[in-house]
Amino acid sequence: MTTNWWQDCVVYQIYPRSFQDSNGDGIGDILGIIQRLDYLQSLMIDAIWLSPIFLSPMADFGYDVSDYCTVDPVFGTEEDVLLLINEAHKRNIRVLFDMVLNHTSIEHPWFIESRQSRDNEKSNFYIWSDTIPNNWYAAFGGRAWTYDTNRKQYYLHSFLPQQPDLNWRNPKVVEAVFEQLAFWLDKGIDGFRLDVINCIIKDEALRNNPKIIGSRPRPYDMQRHIFDRNRPESHQKLKMMRKFIDKYDQRMLVGEILVEMPGEPELAASYLGLHHDELHLCFDFSLAYTRFSAARWKKVAKRWYEAVGKHRVPTWVLNNHDLPRIISRLHGNEEKARLAAMFLLTQRGAIFLYYGEELGLPNSKISRSAMHDPLGKRYWPFHPGRDPERGPMIWNTGEGNGFTTGESWLAFANAANRYSVENQELETESMLQFYRRLLALRKEDEVLRNGLCTFVDTTNTHILAYCREIEADQRLIVLNMSAKQITCSIPMLQVKDMQCEIMFATDGVRPEQIESPHAITIGGYQGRIYRLVDNR
Ligand code: NOJ
Repeated sequence: MTTNWWQDCVVYQIYPRSFQDSNGDGIGDILGIIQRLDYLQSLMIDAIWLSPIFLSPMADFGYDVSDYCTVDPVFGTEEDVLLLINEAHKRNIRVLFDMVLNHTSIEHPWFIESRQSRDNEKSNFYIWSDTIPNNWYAAFGGRAWTYDTNRKQYYLHSFLPQQPDLNWRNPKVVEAVFEQLAFWLDKGIDGFRLDVINCIIKDEALRNNPKIIGSRPRPYDMQRHIFDRNRPESHQKLKMMRKFIDKYDQRMLVGEILVEMPGEPELAASYLGLHHDELHLCFDFSLAYTRFSAARWKKVAKRWYEAVGKHRVPTWVLNNHDLPRIISRLHGNEEKARLAAMFLLTQRGAIFLYYGEELGLPNSKISRSAMHDPLGKRYWPFHPGRDPERGPMIWNTGEGNGFTTGESWLAFANAANRYSVENQELETESMLQFYRRLLALRKEDEVLRNGLCTFVDTTNTHILAYCREIEADQRLIVLNMSAKQITCSIPMLQVKDMQCEIMFATDGVRPEQIESPHAITIGGYQGRIYRLVDNR
């Protein structure tokens, strides 16, 4: 039985600038999200996570916060947020905020004070040094140290110079950060996504990172980040944060763990705490980094399950505001995208969807001159920037695609006809209806949500097959990740003399039809979910 809502939840990530504009300025806002809550409820998701909506000069589009307790006017007001929480709760949807606690904006009053002098109250809120103390680079370009003419010292920033890193070794910072969390917890927020939470503590002696041999466009990628991330003390801080949030009932922390490709599930899992005493959930991005192949996906998923263990909760995610949209990664192949969705929504744990994923919405095409993202601006053409995956939602095919009555801040994906919610609602076989059916099935089936997952061997390596089970109640998922029809058998189930009753299929096979695990025939890029029936 489910005890904590997050252990089997589906969270829908919203990039607020691009979801729904309510005032015609071309930028999405909170009142816009409220207008779309009925749609979100109809998807049967459990929670929404909003990328940052706090006051910000928007150097990194809200990931540079200048006041954690004020809503940026571009998104609305505190009153709008309270209304959103209230209206979402009425529909059984929880609301998660994105908390960027590794750094603030350069315009945050803490930094403004800190840079005034070397002995003010906030002087140690950030990490200052008389000289450039090490070889660290910033993820968004250049050295991680910028000179401040006021203090005549350098301050550390892991991202843009406009995003100075907080000094989490200072207990006053920890206290101040917890106060920001409390502000929203007291107002009824259900939890937080924590930005790059494995970066909060840096090496006390600020030692040099070891270099990597080779050549990559970004100097940041030429080092092993062992002294500017994942320091042992970060676990202590997260234990404190967990204790703090557990004073409130049923609130959840999900952490972003910054790692390089191809991902590092054991590291991500370490942030759940050996005794479940750190984050409730954290992201492992291995799947989002892995090529579409049965063998590879199996390897990646097994590794993540093993890292997390039976008693902790894995999260599953295919894309987000920093990663190409799944359909674009699959070169527009909708059949593959459906299989990916089927894989995602039949895993144990917490599932994270990215707005528009349910429509098969592709990346927008953004020319260099129309680019907003600082990462893209700096590293184009090596990095296309993150604007393409942040394109606006397509609600209908009218002017502004139902997103805005004004001019959208960012280009829409082409072919609104195909991707609009309105059109896909009318078409029974659309991507949207497919997602709806899968989401509904997951909601009603405890085994799909919480059953243990065991990967099973099949006679064909292009088939990805796994069993989910709660005691004798078993499901079998079979995904053909190749283009060709395959007939395969599942030796383990033959031994047990099981039959397979179809619950859900991508290829229109009738539910309840019975098949034998001796010979499952399944078309290219098709998938099935079976209920296993014991014949003995
Ligand atoms: C990770 C966020 O997901 C990304 O969008 C942001 O630019 C960096 N952290 C810096 O806050």
